[in-house]
Amino acid sequence: MSDLKTALVTGADRGLGFAIAKRLLGEGFRVFAGKFNSEYTLLEDLQKDYPELYIVELDVKNPEHMKAAAAEIEKISGKLELLVSNAALMGMRTEKPSDVIDGNRGFDPELMAAFFMTNSYAAPMLVDTFLPLLRKGEMKRLFFTSSEISSVRLMRRTGSFRYGMSKTALNLGVRMIYNTLRPEGFTFRLYQPGWMKHQFPDGSLAKTAIVDPADSAKEAVRQMLEDRLDEDRLVLTDYLGRELSF
Ligand SMILES: NC(=O)c1ccc[n+]([C@@H]2O[C@H](COP(=O)([O-])OP(=O)(O)OC[C@H]3O[C@@H](n4cnc5c(N)ncnc54)[C@H](OP(=O)(O)O)[C@@H]3O)[C@@H](O)[C@H]2O)c1
Repeated sequence: MSDLKTALVTGADRGLGFAIAKRLLGEGFRVFAGKFNSEYTLLEDLQKDYPELYIVELDVKNPEHMKAAAAEIEKISGKLELLVSNAALMGMRTEKPSDVIDGNRGFDPELMAAFFMTNSYAAPMLVDTFLPLLRKGEMKRLFFTSSEISSVRLMRRTGSFRYGMSKTALNLGVRMIYNTLRPEGFTFRLYQPGWMKHQFPDGSLAKTAIVDPADSAKEAVRQMLEDRLDEDRLVLTDYLGRELSF
């Protein structure tokens, strides 16, 4: 086993997760990148330049995938410095039925459950599964990709309630993990990446939205690698380094 710092990034096939994985590799980390979408091969291409990139099959709804990834990390690194819980079901392109409450559309309980499993409950499951490895790592840092949409105070929308509610639940879960693990020395990052451009399988970006995922990843990695003076406060910060209400 080597002394390389090790990170796990979920939802790393494209977008922010992919860009964070790439940046961490550039920072000299060994990165275990969670693969979920077989249509994307950006990670496989990146592996040619970075032998310290390990691709692990990881559906964050699946505890068996988590256990297998933990066993792989145990075998290769024996520890984990940094957990990046980033995977999410966004659903903006595939909403069925449409995600507004107007008395006419009905509910899809299975879809709702999938949003909560992926966007909310996966985070505590990940922390629980990887905690023995994280306890052996020297950073003990936990990073969670949240969203501005998670903020009860800032919410002005009428739609996207599945996504919005699931991100608010994520924040609460992170607060509870913080209450448990901050006294042990763990430090936390809760991050709003901005309205990012969608990344296509060939690596190109959509024109809609504002932020290039690589730019948001640059700031995310800065925040996850720098120590803060106020680690005893759980804060939601954005891609411009600002603190947001949540
Ligand atoms: N994009 C934005 O404007 C925006 C704004 C605020 C916050 N965020 C948050 O930022 C993070 C990254 O966003 P992004 O734009 O990079 O999203 P993205 O392009 O949709 O990437 C997320 C990745 O997670 C994967 N995923 C979905 N379900 C999963 C599961 N069960 N297990 C493992 N992976 C799964 C997705 O796979 P599929 O391709 O199969 O869906 C996708 O590859 C997310 O947490 C998102 O909520 C994004």
